[in-house]
Amino acid sequence: MSTATATKNTTTSQADFLPLHGTDYVEFYVGNAKQAAHFYKTAFGFQSLAYAGPETGVKDKVSYAIRQNKLTFVLTTPLRANNAIADHIYKHGDGVKVLALMVDDARSAYAETTKRGGKSYMEPIVLNDESGEVVLSGIHTYGDTVHVFVERKNYKGVFMPGFKEWKSDYNPAETGLLYVDHCVGNVGWNQMNPWVKFYEDVMGFRNILSFDDNDISTEYSALMSKVMSNGNGYVKFPINEPAEGKKKSQVEEYLDFYDGEGCQHVALATHDIVKTVTELKSRGVEFLKVPNSYYDDLLDRVGHIDEDIEPLKELGILVDRDDEGYLLQLFSKPVEDRPTLFFEIIQRKGAKSFGKGNFKALFEALEREQGARGNL
Ligand code: FE2
Repeated sequence: MSTATATKNTTTSQADFLPLHGTDYVEFYVGNAKQAAHFYKTAFGFQSLAYAGPETGVKDKVSYAIRQNKLTFVLTTPLRANNAIADHIYKHGDGVKVLALMVDDARSAYAETTKRGGKSYMEPIVLNDESGEVVLSGIHTYGDTVHVFVERKNYKGVFMPGFKEWKSDYNPAETGLLYVDHCVGNVGWNQMNPWVKFYEDVMGFRNILSFDDNDISTEYSALMSKVMSNGNGYVKFPINEPAEGKKKSQVEEYLDFYDGEGCQHVALATHDIVKTVTELKSRGVEFLKVPNSYYDDLLDRVGHIDEDIEPLKELGILVDRDDEGYLLQLFSKPVEDRPTLFFEIIQRKGAKSFGKGNFKALFEALEREQGARGNL
């Protein structure tokens, strides 16, 4: 096999074999979905969308689907022990199980990815109700995380068959969160490149950015990261692995407490980060704090920005610039007791990058939290 030909074929087929329209939903396996749904409604401003459980004919688990603009979360809890969901929660704690992707053809997505080495999670299944049909299929990715391909072009219902509309009397206002910008995976030592290859070979993604341990290191700890993107850029999966440092890195802490590889953070987009973060904070969402000195030379580093510095400083919002524009971002503390999954709030003003200029300040802030937990 000629290498040049293989490369050319890969490039040609990248745009074709797995067209994705974005993230369909993110499903979390959690210990208590009723309370988790309340938390995401109250703290993050999600709206009740749909419910599945014993009342809808699902006997072994309960799921709440909640939505804010194009952002859909599903919170699932098992009703009994001794099943895959209960085992997942016992091992990992609350965390992301499914990164579901919107496709036109779930059968083709399954055939094309499994043909290229993707490990089957779910053969194509057709779910029907009076609102039409949804076709699902899925493959495994890092750790116990999976990708489910969702074809819903022939479906008119609120979410999917098996769910009924969830109408609630409790409807806190939205906070301006719009869609999933990217989802980051933490993988083990020397596992970043194999997973980069998985996204290239199996899903036709491209490596659009790489950060080595010189880019992402503090005095004490380091990590490496490569950003994988699908053809149209709607789906971006950065992959982190730990790197050698004087002390334990945040990725190692995650791997230790999640008991394996998994989703580290989901980045949620907003058009007005000051408004969104003000709202989130007032509802009790906790964020990492960089030192006030971060803002002293901010404008020297990033040039002119439209926002006033003072509210950014007050809220701890970080700014970074690349060739195409700038971005504003902020990271929550973990949203469960294990130091595992957290959220990023991001507003892009032209920039397509991930805030490289903030890595150092951010990881120092993370290390302070890690130190307080005795895990540095
Ligand atoms: Fe991120």
